[in-house]
This record gives sequence, C-alpha cells and structure tokens, in this order.
Amino acid sequence: MDALRIRGGRGKPLNGRVRISGAKNAALPILCATLLSDGASRLRNVPRLRDIETTSALLRFLGRDVTVNAPEVHVAAGSDVRPEAPYELVKQMRASVLVLGPLVARFGRAKVSLPGGCAIGARPIDQHLKGLEALGCSIRLERGYVLAEGPGGGGRLKGAEIMFDVPTVGGTENLMMAAALAKGRSTLVNCAREPEVEELGRILNKMGAEVNGAGTDVIHIVGADRGELAPFDHAIIPDRIEAGTYMIAAAMTEGGDVLVEGAELHDLEVLAMKLRSAGVEIESEGHNIRVRRLGELRGVNITTAPHPGFPTDMQAQFLALMATARGESVISETIFENRFMHVPELQRMGASVALRGNTAVVQGVSRLYGAAVMATDLRASASLVIAGIVADEETEVRRIYHLDRGYERIEEKLQGLGVDVERVKGAEA
Ligand code: EPU
Repeated sequence: MDALRIRGGRGKPLNGRVRISGAKNAALPILCATLLSDGASRLRNVPRLRDIETTSALLRFLGRDVTVNAPEVHVAAGSDVRPEAPYELVKQMRASVLVLGPLVARFGRAKVSLPGGCAIGARPIDQHLKGLEALGCSIRLERGYVLAEGPGGGGRLKGAEIMFDVPTVGGTENLMMAAALAKGRSTLVNCAREPEVEELGRILNKMGAEVNGAGTDVIHIVGADRGELAPFDHAIIPDRIEAGTYMIAAAMTEGGDVLVEGAELHDLEVLAMKLRSAGVEIESEGHNIRVRRLGELRGVNITTAPHPGFPTDMQAQFLALMATARGESVISETIFENRFMHVPELQRMGASVALRGNTAVVQGVSRLYGAAVMATDLRASASLVIAGIVADEETEVRRIYHLDRGYERIEEKLQGLGVDVERVKGAEA
C-alpha cells in the first residue's frame, strides 16, 4: 500500500498557490442524477479521485455508458438497465446508496445493498427509506439489501410532504432526485443546507424538474411531467473541504502565505472565522482565498454542526492545527459518533489531547515529532498529513488510499507549496 513521506518542520512555511479541484461530494450525487435521464450528460470540473471511479463503475454495472476523461465525465444510456447496486460496490463507498432514489423514480424498482457502518459511525439510512415510503414506495429489507418498488408494483412515485428527523445530506439528495420524477409537488422539511445540496438543485432544474429552496431547510419540488428528465452539461463547484484543508495547511507554520485558487470564501465562512480567531489572516481575492499566518497561533474552540455550522469534514484537520496552538482548545464532534481516530495517531506525534466522549481537549505543544502513522478515514488521514508538515523530521502517513478517495494529487499540490513530500509505492501497511 502506498504511503506519503513528509519531511516537515516549523521552519518551513508553505508558500505559493494551490488550485482547488471540483467537489467530490457534489460530483457523486450529480453522477447518480444522470440515471434520471437517457440522454448524454456531460460533467466538467470532476476531480480525479477513486470515489469518482467507484461511482462510474457502479453506473456501468447499472447499464450506463460512462467515459471518464478527467476532468470530464460523459454518461449516456447504455444497454439494458439493471437497477441493482451490489454489496461489492456499495461497501467501497457509502455514497453508492444515492442511486436508490433515482433508480426507483425512473425505473419503478431498485435493489441496493445496505451500506452498513463505517469507520466514523453507524450511519443509518432510515431517513432515506422513510422519505421514499412517503413518496409511495414499498420498501423491504432482505439479506442485506433494500428492495424498493414504486406504487402498485413499480408505478410512478407521488409527490409528498417529507420531514427529516435530522438534516441529512445524502437523505436530502436521494429524496430530491426521487421527487424530481415523482408526480406532483413535494415539500422536504428540515433539509441539509450544504452547498452540495444546492448544487444538486441546480442540476435537477437544468434537467427540467422545478426545484426551489435547495440550500435552505425547506425545498419545494415539482416533478417533471414525463417519464425521464433531460440530460445536462455542467461544471462542478469547487471542493470547499479540499480548499479548507489547504487553508489549514497554510496556517500550520509561521510565515505561511498561500493563495487557495478557485475557492469560494462564502462556503467557508465559519472556518475562516475560527482561523481568524486563532490569529490567521484570511482574505477573499475574487475567486481565491489568501491565507497568511504572521504570528503565533491561539487555541480556539469548535463544535461541528450541519451547514452553515463548522463542518465535521474539517474537524480532524482543525484539531491538528490546534495541536501546536498556544493554550487550550475544546473540539466537539456532534455529527458522527466515532470521528476522533486521528487523535491516538496525533498523540504518537507528541500532541496533547484528552478525549472525553464526543469532545477532545487539546493543550497546544511547542513541537510535534514525525512518526509512522495511519488512519482509517479520509479526513483523519488529511489531518495526519497536516501535522506532518510541521512535525520535526520524517512522518510517514500509511494507507493513503483513503486520501486518494478525496484529495486529487495531494502530494503534487503540497510540493507546489514547498512541502518536502513524496509518495512511496507499496510501503509497509
Ligand atoms: N443520519 C441518520 N439517518 C439517515 C441519514 C443520516 O440518522 O438516514 C445521521 C448520520 O448518522 C449522521 C448525520 O445524520 O449522524 C448526518 O449524516 P449525513 O446523512 O448528512 O451524511 P452523509 O450524507 O452520509 C455526507 C458527506 C460526508 C459528510 C456528511 C456530513 C457525501 C458523499 N458525504 O455524508 O462526507 O461528512 O455528509 O456533512 O456527501 C467526507 O467527504 O469525508 C465525508 C464523510
């Protein structure tokens, strides 16, 4: 398995420019939305990532014709449709469950493997299923699979009012796609408000559904009055989590000065506020964000929350930043029950962190030490890379296939900022 080897140190500030790729978590649902149409759709600004390959493999399995020529992906109707997402593909990537809504809306039935738990928590899909039932689906769970069928044994879904018990990104997206082809009007309440949900709303509108309110907590959808939606051509929004990760990387060292190119500050307001409180300068320069750290870092508290709160996908990286800040910072994780796997690894690098339930109390230390470390999820792995940037001597972050799921060419982008980092092929697991 590949590893990243980083020779870091406090005396090596990051400098230069880094260009942000398209958003993974916007591209995945949009790829699934292509199932709602038989025409040829074109996605631009798609990141080169393993999760995109996995989704493409899933769409091919379902009978679509997919050509990945990053940063473009073309999807068209292929041979016969097989509305079935097998365990082998879904277990590689939970977001595969996003084919459920489009499949049952378009083809009247779907068989999709239950994703099961993952490294960061149990992650149930009860809200997705409850919403589909409200749209008239009958749902059965059988031998690890969800079997969904439209009304009357495969008929068209019917618009409904759906109230989510918790704001769920994937649940909101699945139901938006299903409602876009349902008969009549749907109202989704207590929706996730993430920019990626808003982006999916734009796509469904391009495809001919009528979606209002995506990006707020109430979404109104009038399903298209025909059996399928129109194809689309669309450039994906920039990845705010990738941008935020480089903003934090820039802030790790005194003297850091980085222009994060193609990133929108309004999607990262809370992170920017927290970085400013920690002593980092953040400015919007057109479609770029300039990050400068001139002096010492101060400890700052964060609590993760659904958008527009502090993103859970930035928690691990921010914790790594706080590891060398002056004073104490209290980091609370409220979205996932098991999202502190980076903590024991950061402790091995010299970080002082006490875990109490869903809260980590960090006492900043003056230096971190390089070590061999690994993590079992994407953002935790990113936090170890960030810690490696400032740690004395050498850090080897192992099992980086997690990083390859969500960060395009991370070592090249970091090298461009002056980080001494290399990918080591087939390093010890
Ligand atoms: N939840 C339920 N029932 C459901 C669905 C969700 O109880 O039916 C709970 C979850 O267990 C969790 C909370 O609701 O406690 C929020 O989960 P959500 O459904 O919003 O998460 P998701 O859609 O599975 C997406 C991102 C994650 C990101 C979360 C939260 C994609 C492909 N994934 O997951 O991204 O952490 O939203 O913002 O969009 C990542 O990129 O590293 C990543 C994990």
